[in-house]
Amino acid sequence: MSRFRTRSRRGEGSSVDLSTRLGRLELPNPVMTAAGTAGHGAELARYFDLASIGAVVVKSLSATSWPGNPSPRLCPVPGGMLNSVGLQGPGVAGWAREELPRLEACGARVVVSLWGRRLAEFGAAARMLAGVARESSAIVAVELNVSCPNLEDRRRIFAHSPEATAGAVAAVREAVDLPLLAKLSPSTPELVEVAGAALGAGADGLTLTNTALGLAIDLEERRPLLGAGGGGLSGPALHSVALRAVYECRQAFPATAIVGVGGISDGEGAARMLMAGADAVQVGTATLADPRAPERVGQLLGRTLARLGFDSLDKVVGAAQDEKTRAAMSKARRRDEP
Ligand SMILES: Cc1cc2nc3c(=O)[nH]c(=O)nc-3n(C[C@H](O)[C@H](O)[C@H](O)COP(=O)(O)O)c2cc1C
Repeated sequence: MSRFRTRSRRGEGSSVDLSTRLGRLELPNPVMTAAGTAGHGAELARYFDLASIGAVVVKSLSATSWPGNPSPRLCPVPGGMLNSVGLQGPGVAGWAREELPRLEACGARVVVSLWGRRLAEFGAAARMLAGVARESSAIVAVELNVSCPNLEDRRRIFAHSPEATAGAVAAVREAVDLPLLAKLSPSTPELVEVAGAALGAGADGLTLTNTALGLAIDLEERRPLLGAGGGGLSGPALHSVALRAVYECRQAFPATAIVGVGGISDGEGAARMLMAGADAVQVGTATLADPRAPERVGQLLGRTLARLGFDSLDKVVGAAQDEKTRAAMSKARRRDEP
């Protein structure tokens, strides 16, 4: 258990227990990086101690290397940014060879994000990862990015369909025994159904949310601004959307592990996400502006919670939920206690 020590504005010393649990995964701190915003490996190690945050979530990896989308891939929009990086990456084997050793040397807890464009690709990536994870105790969980193009379905991305999401989760569950989080898209009216399908197929928890589908227009050129056409909206504009996704999924699944992500850049944003029902949070776009953001958000969260009178995270998680949900969460917690 790690206690983040802080001093309130009134000068009295106080401490908040920031340790948390995502199913069978215990973390000393609830703040993680968000996939794709902290590089593939130990890029942020020169800014802060990667072992001091909950976990480093690496950029999504597929079974083979992938070049990503045409440029431009990023653009600022009101309240955040749009990206269409297109999941460029070295593939699981290249990553394990080039990047994992540096993460291991930092003592980081590593969450590997996987993606695919077909069910078979999810299974292939997961089998490769299973081999790598057998040799590395740094890998603590898998996050399955199902917010990616599905070439076998008329719907555009896996996470728009409960059936396709369940298929991807099942393919990965069969191959790896690590804690498995399904990372969903907010751009569906069926979020709770998709989440239920993911959990039913063997996911241990949910990461909510990936970017929302968006578009930017170049007025002079009279065409979409990003090379791929549309992109994913992230940053402050996504915060309320992600909060609602967490809130609704927590009501539907009081016992499941939930990671909240979307527009968090300070202690209050992280605290809001926890009160909505997240057990942990991730920091994405804020890290692109300030590489120390994940560490800073952890420190600010300790201060915010101390100011609000909390001494441990388990009292914060779901604090904004209705009575029925809070009772169901407490019951689930008591059942899971060792
Ligand atoms: C440049 C960029 C690249 C991203 N790449 C990935 C990725 O590889 N895999 C993934 O699951 N999410 C990816 N995301 C989504 C983030 O992990 C996160 O879910 C989203 O940006 C919302 O959080 P934020 O508002 O804190 O950025 C990416 C986001 C950005 C901005």
